[in-house]
Amino acid sequence: MPLTAIDLYCGSGAVTEGLTAEGVRVVAAVDNDAIACQTYRLNHPEVYLCEDDIRNLDPRTIRQRTNFTGDIDLLVVCAPCQPFSTQNRKRGNNDDDRTTLVLECLKFAREFSPRAIIFENVPGIAILGPLNSLRQSLFELGYILSDPRTLNAADCGVPQRRERCVMIAAKTREGIETFYRAITPQPQVTVRQMIGGLRPLNAAERDPDDPLHFARDHQRIVLQRLAYIPRDGGSRHALPPELELECHRGRTNDFPDVYGRMRWDDVAPTLTTGCTDVTKGRFAHPRDNRAITLREAALLQSFPPHYRFHGNVAQIARQIGNAVPVNMIRTLVPPLRQLLQTQGQ
Ligand SMILES: C[S@@+](CC[C@H](N)C(=O)[O-])C[C@H]1O[C@@H](n2cnc3c(N)ncnc32)[C@H](O)[C@@H]1O
Repeated sequence: MPLTAIDLYCGSGAVTEGLTAEGVRVVAAVDNDAIACQTYRLNHPEVYLCEDDIRNLDPRTIRQRTNFTGDIDLLVVCAPCQPFSTQNRKRGNNDDDRTTLVLECLKFAREFSPRAIIFENVPGIAILGPLNSLRQSLFELGYILSDPRTLNAADCGVPQRRERCVMIAAKTREGIETFYRAITPQPQVTVRQMIGGLRPLNAAERDPDDPLHFARDHQRIVLQRLAYIPRDGGSRHALPPELELECHRGRTNDFPDVYGRMRWDDVAPTLTTGCTDVTKGRFAHPRDNRAITLREAALLQSFPPHYRFHGNVAQIARQIGNAVPVNMIRTLVPPLRQLLQTQGQ
């Protein structure tokens, strides 16, 4: 029998993709973003998707709609990370009602008695999140919540530096220890290995065989700048004075990655929701004079090459930037299986 899971805050479905690839059956998923939900349905039509604000959702609805009886093996909780993210200047703001969304998992834990619960977020949740409250409530339900651990996606077969915080709730300490011990660093995957085989593109060109592999139609000034950035890892420091951005003049240490190129034989930097915009970070292609395409961004998040996305360019970039890398979840499934073995049936 395959393990069963519920994917809370499923977004465009990267977690479900990783679980499914490892043989886990995702019974249900929840998200309230209409665009991401469309993407989810395109790729995971077999899963019952509840498109609703989780705060208004009664978990018994999932039982009724799926006819799922009994307990679930895994509950996956990837609550929004923006309130705890270093990218967010207002982080730690108590008025942000998203800070407590992680606690919504508790009603699902009560209804489905998962054998383990896995939390994924940015490392800032360890300082700014409501972890004491989460720990105490889980304890009352019979779970121990682990301390937060930071994992780098680059150690999980993802061609990207992306630090994420992983916590696990399980019935025994032994299970938690087994889980962390079993996480095995995967061989590094580089930008070249992941996107080097795609069709080279100039600005405004598209690959007729892949609707997501098309290059931005950059402005002339952007192309002039890109022509000066050395291939394979160059930065804006190579720009002649007349092409420097006004706001960067004399400020070499501010935003050093803007207009930078990725390196072929390294991992990519953390992809954000602005990952196809060279003015938002080191998102220029290692060789071509353009930003990376949506397909390249999706591959660097380890989405499989056939993954389909709904929405316009900005909406797709947002879904990709917000995703949990597929291979990061895949790396965690074997340790989760070992944890569940320690707990028996
Ligand atoms: C970090 S993203 C999740 C990424 C996703 N797990 C993946 O693998 O791509 C957080 C998600 O929480 C969803 N979300 C935010 N507030 C929500 C709410 N009140 N109810 C349900 N979903 C919510 C967002 O739409 C977003 O897709």
